Amino acid sequence: MSEKVYESDFLVIGSGLAGLLFSLKVAKRGTVDLITKRRLRDSSTWRAQGGIAAVVSPEDTFESHIADTIRVGGGLCHPEVVESMVRAGPDRIGDLEKYGVEFSKNSNGEYELGLEGGHSNRRVLHVKDHTGKDIENALANAAEDCETINISENHMAVNLYVKNNRVYGAYVLDNNTKEVERYQAPVTVLATGGAGRVFLYTSNSDVATGDGIAMAYRAGASIMNMELVQFHPTLLHHSTIRSFLISEALRGEGALLLGSDGTRFMPNYHPDAELAPRDIVARAIDNELKKTGADHVWLDISFKTAEFVRNRFPNIHETCLQAGIDITKEPIPVVPATHYIMGGVKTSINGQTDIEGLYAIGEVACTGFHGANRLASNSLLEAAVLAHNASLSAIKQNSKSIPGAQIPQWDPGHATDPDELVVISHLWDEIRRIMVNYVGIVRSQKRLIRARNRIGLITKEINRFYWDFIITPDLIELRNIAIVAELIIKMARMRKECRGAHYNKDYRREWHQAVDTILRKGYAPIGIQ
Ligand code: SIN
Repeated sequence: MSEKVYESDFLVIGSGLAGLLFSLKVAKRGTVDLITKRRLRDSSTWRAQGGIAAVVSPEDTFESHIADTIRVGGGLCHPEVVESMVRAGPDRIGDLEKYGVEFSKNSNGEYELGLEGGHSNRRVLHVKDHTGKDIENALANAAEDCETINISENHMAVNLYVKNNRVYGAYVLDNNTKEVERYQAPVTVLATGGAGRVFLYTSNSDVATGDGIAMAYRAGASIMNMELVQFHPTLLHHSTIRSFLISEALRGEGALLLGSDGTRFMPNYHPDAELAPRDIVARAIDNELKKTGADHVWLDISFKTAEFVRNRFPNIHETCLQAGIDITKEPIPVVPATHYIMGGVKTSINGQTDIEGLYAIGEVACTGFHGANRLASNSLLEAAVLAHNASLSAIKQNSKSIPGAQIPQWDPGHATDPDELVVISHLWDEIRRIMVNYVGIVRSQKRLIRARNRIGLITKEINRFYWDFIITPDLIELRNIAIVAELIIKMARMRKECRGAHYNKDYRREWHQAVDTILRKGYAPIGIQ
């Protein structure tokens, strides 16, 4: 057990776009401890293909981007938040360019803008089809070069330490030494990303286990709209290449969805066909699969020239080739899967939670921007805007420094090594299957109750494990995904209507006044382990 307390001005947990940009912005004003549970570049940002939506073209307007976001958001967007996020877009694009991101441009030096579902204009800035990777690399390089940012890889936050509704930092498992350390700072920032791994099939990377949401909930922060889970319509259906997204940008360039008989089906579901909002396309595919018994539908872009496809989508082209599919010649087998969580830790437009000193930025946060269904490519925009806004707010907050060591030593109790670690991976698998089977694209009250009962039993088991055995990253993540699963189910049962990404067939005809679902767990008076 370590006696040392690591102290800094800003503790940042997570290293995607939001965590890195925040760190870079505050680094001139203080020291930053940036902890990340795997390698620095292992993040959801890395996988983002489509791009980042912003109004940068003279043919586009803020009003149109605002209207698209609100229309797709199914009545749950907070209009003032949408307006503020959208208007900040061009400045945040400027920030990314300052760190070296080179968005694709045409031969006249103008941005080559993509189109995606729900957008009424071309406004998606991208770097071919590897936008996230380029953004992550540019920001990570800058953070690595910055003397006041101390990066700790393989460090996993276990719990926040909160007393009297004020956060003092976190307990962090150093997976190199296996010690739980204390990290103290006047400002703690959750930038831990989403929770796609709570479901068996997802576009998300392994790191997306809802850690920030679970930690904030345990600490007493308000959590909101967790039932609103976005399913991306088109993931590659392949036996060995898992979780690979086929970007919506393909449909923006004219790719068509085809059923098992080779005919288009989207015109039967929505006037915008393949470019309808994402929830509608995902449900339409789900319906086609159920109707026909097929295990995938097809996405076809082979009618474009091979040169265009290879140049615009090099990453997708290459990965599909590895899967034995030449997308310049043949259609791609695709299925819908969990992609993004609109809900999360309730925050202001500055990323402030309702715990003093605690911020949440990026996918972990719920600001009200995305409403019930996120408009494509609005997530990187929100991450960048929140990182910027939170940095301004946190710099002010940070003047309230913390006297002495406030976080008590970690108490490992009588934990021992578990004899059968395999149980942890079994429980992981059980949760993820329950979620995909009973809390998926089409829900019902009966299915939700079944899921609740099963997850409830598993949670009891996990809690026993947690107190009896030495904690490991797998056990911490397991506890987190169980909490996130419970929150999704609880809030799904609270929403007795169909709205945006939440579709419950028992309430097909219900449409209530749009309200957020919010749960707050009473905070533990002396921190919680
Ligand atoms: C995609 O490229 O299809 C994903 C973009 C997004 O989720 O916003």
